[in-house]
Amino acid sequence: MLAIASYCCALRLDSTKNPSFLLVASIPQHYTSASGMQHELTINGETFHFEASATLLLIDAIRNHCALKGTNQGCDTAQCGACTVLIDGKAAKSCNLLAAQVSPAEPIMTIEGLASPASLHPMQICFSQHHALQCGYCTPGMIMRAVAMADEGVAATPDAVRHALAGNLCRCTGYEGIVNAIVDGLQQMRRR
Ligand code: FES
Ligand code: FES
Repeated sequence: MLAIASYCCALRLDSTKNPSFLLVASIPQHYTSASGMQHELTINGETFHFEASATLLLIDAIRNHCALKGTNQGCDTAQCGACTVLIDGKAAKSCNLLAAQVSPAEPIMTIEGLASPASLHPMQICFSQHHALQCGYCTPGMIMRAVAMADEGVAATPDAVRHALAGNLCRCTGYEGIVNAIVDGLQQMRRR
């Protein structure tokens, strides 16, 4: 899915900044220059071009260069899941990737691309019906993670959903409603 290998990135865990999971990537020399690099991303079916540093995080590209503010920034260390988007249909934490690691051929979907306000996605409807949000900060990431579960074959049971949701944190601790909403949402997506 991700073009990590093709960019020859050297990935390592930097335990001096984060004891558990901070991803650092070295950028190939031809992508770096004083003025940055030309980026091209395909998000929600639209092509975005912009010039920015080769070390730009995908979350910052989405929010600041593509003006899609629905994807939230939480921990910035790949732990909370607030920044979850779909890349080629798979859930990915956008704070843990460089924009340069995603090719234009790999479609990104953010919460804005999931549905329209006039016709919500079944998972969004289930979050609403099960009152699965309080402050709502984690909600876009939770919903994108939940939608990916359908393709992953996650069973529509509370235990399976809790296990699959391990990388997404809700600081309001509204997990009961979130899990119920996802169980219901998975059932509805599979009926379609
Ligand atoms: S902001 Fe990306 S995982 Fe927390
Ligand atoms: S609803 Fe507040 S962080 Fe989840």
